[in-house]
Amino acid sequence: MITPWQWNTKLATGNDEIDGQHKELLARVNHLMEAVSQGNKKEAVADTFRFLETYAVIHFASEENLQQKYGYPEYIYHKCLHQDFITNLQNLIKKFGREGVTPEISMELSKTVCEWLVEHICLEDKKLADFLKAKGLK
Ligand SMILES: [Fe+2]
Ligand SMILES: [Fe+2]
Repeated sequence: MITPWQWNTKLATGNDEIDGQHKELLARVNHLMEAVSQGNKKEAVADTFRFLETYAVIHFASEENLQQKYGYPEYIYHKCLHQDFITNLQNLIKKFGREGVTPEISMELSKTVCEWLVEHICLEDKKLADFLKAKGLK
């Protein structure tokens, strides 16, 4: 049984746009974890994987646009972290396409992808939100 990620104050960056997208991102992560853990049909799991990937790309682009617009000093570094996440997710999707849901994929999904995401929100996105706040943008 997988415990879904819950939104909590630790995850809040204080920027409404970013927080709203993070809530949606977590909802999609939970949806995927649920599909994987319930042994749903391969096509259904594949759909939720694609759903998460599409939303992650949209969300990252929106953060990167804010960073470029307001001259965020860690833009390149932050963008690289986003790209790593997408690469990891795409590798996982490829592996899933070849092997279906395996214990290894479930573990990689919850440990690598989801924990990375939560950590990234708590550290890097929080830093970005603080920067935007200091610029008077919320
Ligand atoms: Fe984010
Ligand atoms: Fe980010």
